Amino acid sequence: MLGSGSLSTKWTTYLGLLSVLSTAFSPVFAVKEHDWKKCDQSGFCRRNRAYADHALSAISWESPYKIAPETGSFKDGQYQAIILKTINDHGETVRLPLTVSFLESGTARVTIDEEKRQKGEIELRHDSKARKERYNEAEQWVIVGGMTLDKGAKVDYEDKTQMTVKYGPSSKFEATIKFAPFSIDFKRDGASHIKFNDQGLLNIEHWRPKIDPPPEPEKKEGEQQPDKKEEAPREDDSTWWEESFGGNTDSKPRGPESVGLDISFVGYEHVFGIPSHASPLSLKQTRGGEGNYNEPYRMYNADVFEYILDSPMTLYGSIPFMQAHRKDSSVGIFWLNAAETWVDITKGKDSKNPLALGVKSKITTRTHWFSESGLLDVFVFLGPTPKDIISKYAELTGTTAMPQEFSLGYHQCRWNYVSDEDVKDVDRKMDKFNMPYDVIWLDIEYTDEKKYFTWDKHSFKDPIGMGKQLEAHGRKLVTIIDPHIKNTNNYPVVDELKSKDLAVKTKDGSIFEGWCWPGSSHWIDAFNPAAREWWKGLFKYDKFKGTMENTFIWNDMNEPSVFNGPEVTMPKDNLHHGNWEHRDVHNLNGMTFQNATYHALLSRKPGEHRRPFVLTRAFFAGSQRLGAMWTGDNTADWGYLKASIPMVLSQGIAGFPFAGADVGGFFGNPDKDLLTRWYQTGIFYPFFRAHAHIDARRREPYLTGEPYNTIIAAALRLRYSLLPSWYTAFRHAHLDGTPIIKPMFYTHPSEEAGLPIDDQFFIGNTGLLAKPVTDKDRTSVDIWIPDSEVYYDYFTYDIISAAKSKTATLDAPLEKIPLLMRGGHVFARRDIPRRSSALMKWDPYTLVVVLGNDRKAEGDLYVDDGDSFDYEKGQYIHRRFIFDANTLTSADYEGRDDASIKEGEWLKKMRTVNVEKIIVVGAPAAWKGKKTVTVESEGKTWAAAIEYNPAEKSRAAFAVVKKVGVRVGADFKIVFG
Ligand code: NOJ
Repeated sequence: MLGSGSLSTKWTTYLGLLSVLSTAFSPVFAVKEHDWKKCDQSGFCRRNRAYADHALSAISWESPYKIAPETGSFKDGQYQAIILKTINDHGETVRLPLTVSFLESGTARVTIDEEKRQKGEIELRHDSKARKERYNEAEQWVIVGGMTLDKGAKVDYEDKTQMTVKYGPSSKFEATIKFAPFSIDFKRDGASHIKFNDQGLLNIEHWRPKIDPPPEPEKKEGEQQPDKKEEAPREDDSTWWEESFGGNTDSKPRGPESVGLDISFVGYEHVFGIPSHASPLSLKQTRGGEGNYNEPYRMYNADVFEYILDSPMTLYGSIPFMQAHRKDSSVGIFWLNAAETWVDITKGKDSKNPLALGVKSKITTRTHWFSESGLLDVFVFLGPTPKDIISKYAELTGTTAMPQEFSLGYHQCRWNYVSDEDVKDVDRKMDKFNMPYDVIWLDIEYTDEKKYFTWDKHSFKDPIGMGKQLEAHGRKLVTIIDPHIKNTNNYPVVDELKSKDLAVKTKDGSIFEGWCWPGSSHWIDAFNPAAREWWKGLFKYDKFKGTMENTFIWNDMNEPSVFNGPEVTMPKDNLHHGNWEHRDVHNLNGMTFQNATYHALLSRKPGEHRRPFVLTRAFFAGSQRLGAMWTGDNTADWGYLKASIPMVLSQGIAGFPFAGADVGGFFGNPDKDLLTRWYQTGIFYPFFRAHAHIDARRREPYLTGEPYNTIIAAALRLRYSLLPSWYTAFRHAHLDGTPIIKPMFYTHPSEEAGLPIDDQFFIGNTGLLAKPVTDKDRTSVDIWIPDSEVYYDYFTYDIISAAKSKTATLDAPLEKIPLLMRGGHVFARRDIPRRSSALMKWDPYTLVVVLGNDRKAEGDLYVDDGDSFDYEKGQYIHRRFIFDANTLTSADYEGRDDASIKEGEWLKKMRTVNVEKIIVVGAPAAWKGKKTVTVESEGKTWAAAIEYNPAEKSRAAFAVVKKVGVRVGADFKIVFG
C-alpha cells in the first residue's frame, strides 16, 4: 500500500488521495526498511537471540527447565507434567504445565503454558482490562480436525531421567522426553529426526511484578555518595514493561511473556515453508555468513510497501509451518502461535551426533522459534514423504475450499476501473480481441468516499446494468471491502458498528480510531461473533444494493493496515473480543475478517447456497478454507516476476495453494516483453489476476499491440483449455491438501539435486512441467528433468532429450512457453475457444494421453457444477483414466457405482457432454496404417476413426481420434491396438 512510509509520507499519500484521484501522487518506489522492526528493535526478538548467543557460547550451559517427574502422568495418548523453570540462584522456580499429545494421525503436539497466568494470579499494569492468561484460543480458529488422541500410544520405557513413548502407525514413531533439562527427541524407525531444546534455547518468559528501582536519594550538599556496586544486569529488561518504535509506545501490561524454542532437524539440509517471504523456497540461514541473511525470518502480518526481494522480512500473511527434506525423508512442524514470531535458521554439522543412525547427510538444520506471547504450542510430523507431511497438516488446519469454478479463470483488475462504462468497455474489448476472461474487479474508488457498501453515484450510475452485461457472458464482478469503516456522519455502517459495540478497542476500552484509505476509521472486530453476524447482514443483496449473484468480494488491508499505527498496523495493546490483546492475535486478524466475509457470502439470500469467493491479503494457517490469497504489492520488474514463483510454490507446500501474484506487477509500468512473460507465467498461478496501481498506465492485455496481443491471447487460451485439469488439481487440494503447483522436492523426493529448485513445477497430477521465462531478453531456458521418463514439448510433441537428473535447454522465444509433458500421464482439456469459463460448461473434452517409456499412462478428471455445494452430495464426476496394453479405460475414480448416484439437474445435463477427442502422444509405430479404434461404452460398441502421425525428426509419433463420442461420465474402454 501507499501509506506505510513515515507518518508524513502517509499523510501526503492520504491527502494526495483526497485531492483528485486522477491527479494522484507519485509513490516512492522503495520499501522504507526503517519503518519495519529489525530483530534488535523488537524487545523479545533481541532477548531471545541474546539468550541463544549466551547458551551457545557459554562453556557450560544448562537449560533451566526440568520436568518434575512426580507430576507426570500418561493417559489415553497424553502425557502431562509440570516443567519447573529455575529463575534464580536461590533455586526458585515457576511452574509450567506441559502437555504432550499423541494423535491418531501420528502427529504429536507439545504445549507449554504458565500456571500463574493460567490461574489469573498475576497483576496487570496500568489498570489494563486485558486477559491474564496466555492466549489459548488460536486453535479455535485454526484447528478443524485430526485431534483424536492415539489410545494406542504407549510408554515403552521410563526411568527417573526420561521416558519414551511409542506412537503412530505401527508404532514406528517415538518421542523420548528427557526430564532434566527438559528436551524431546522425536524418532522414526529408531532414528532421530526432530529435537526440541537440544540446544537449550527453550525460553518461557514468566510473569513477574515490575519492581521499580528505589528513587535516587537526594544528594545533600557536600555529602559524598557511596560507590555503587556495578553489577551486570543478568537479563536485558529494558523492553519488559514498555517498548517504543517509530514514535509509538506499547504499554505491555503483562510484562515480558515471550516463548522460544530451538527445533533441530537432524540430518536435514533443506527446510521449506513459513510463508510469506520474498525469498527462495529452500530457506536461507539467518545468522550471517556469505549468501545468508542476518535477520531471522519474521512473521508479523504487515502492509509492507513495495517489499524488497530476497529478504526474510515479514509480508502480508504468515503460516508458521515448516518442513525439512532430505533424500527420501521429510518431517515437519507447525508452530501454532498467532503473535509476532521470528525464526532463526542455521545449518551445520551435527557435531553432537556424527554417527546418528540412519542419517546420511551430515548437515543438520537448527531452527530457533520465538513468539511474543501466547502458548508454546508445536505439532510434529514425522513423514516420511512430503505428501504425508502436508496431508497431516491439512488434517489439522483444513484444506482448500472447493473454489467457484470461475475463479480459476483469468481475473482482470486495476486500481481502478473508473466507472461502470469503463468496466463495460473493458468487457467488450476483451471480447473484441478474443481474450477470454472471467472476472473484472473494482478497487476502492467505486465507493462513495471509501464508505464500503456504497457506490460512487457519479461514476457508477448503474451497477446492476454493469453486472448484467457481465452476466451475459457468464462473467463476474469482484468488489473490494476492507475492514476499516469510515468514521463519518450519515454512514449507517459506522453508526451500527459503534452503537452495537462491534469495533476493536484501545487499551482503555474505548473505540479504536486510526487512519486508512477513508481517513479516520474504526475497525470491525471479526473475533467477535456478534460482529460477524452483523457483517453477514451487510452483504444481503437488498442491503448492499448494486450487487447481484455474480458479485464476489476482495478483502484487502486486513493485516490490519493502519496508516498511522506502529509498523502500519494496530497498537499491540489494543483489545479484541474477550479482552485479548491485539499482540496475541495479530496474525489471526486477517483470517477472522475473511472468515466473516466468507460466511456473509453464504447468507446473501435465503435458500441460496453457493460457494463464496473471497480474496484475502492477510492470512494465517487455516485461511485456505476460505478463499484465495495474492502476494501483495509487487513491482513491474523482472526480479518480482521471478520471485513470484517460489512465493506461490511456498504457499502450496504450506497448505494454502490458491495463490497468485499481481500479473504485470502492481507498481510501475511493465514493458511489453515483461508484461507478456508475466502472462505466460501467470497462467500457471493457481490464482491468475492482473492488477495495477492507480498511477500505472492502463495495461489491459489487448492494449499491448501486435505481436504481443496474439501471444498473450494464446497464453490465456492455454489456461482456459487446461481449466478441467486445474479444477481437478483443486479437487485434490480440497481432498487432502496436495499443492496445486508442485515443486520438484514434492514430486521427486528421492532426487537430491531437485531439492533446492524453485523455478519450475508440475501442475497437479497432469505431468505438465512448466518453467516460465522470467529473465529479460531470454530466448531459451534450462529445465531440470527429474527422472528418466520420456518428456515431450507440449506444443510440438518433440521428445526432450536429457540424461537422468540433467538439464535440457528449451527454445523459448517470446511467443513460446516452456512447457513439457511427462510420459505416463493422461490429462483433460476443453479445446473450443470461448469468452469465459461459464460458456465452456457443456463443452466436450479432449483427453491427452502421454505415453510413458512403458507405454502406459494414467490420469483423472474431476467435474462438478462449479458453483454449489451439491458435490458434497455426490453430484460430481470423477474419472480415472488408465492406458495400458493399448487400451484406454475410464472408470469412476472412487469406484462408485453409477446406479447409486441419484442424478440431480447438473448431472443429468452432463449426460450430453462427451469426450470428443483423444490425442495419444508417443503412439507406437505399430499403429501405423490403423484406420479405426474400437470404443465400448454403456453396452454399445462402435468404431471411431484414428489418424496416425509417424515420428518426424525429434517429434514423437502421435495419434488423434477425433470423434470418440463417449459420455464423459460413463465407463468406457477404447482399444487402440
Ligand atoms: C493495497 C492492495 O495491496 C492493492 O492491491 C490495492 O490496489 C490497494 N490496496 C488499494 O485498494
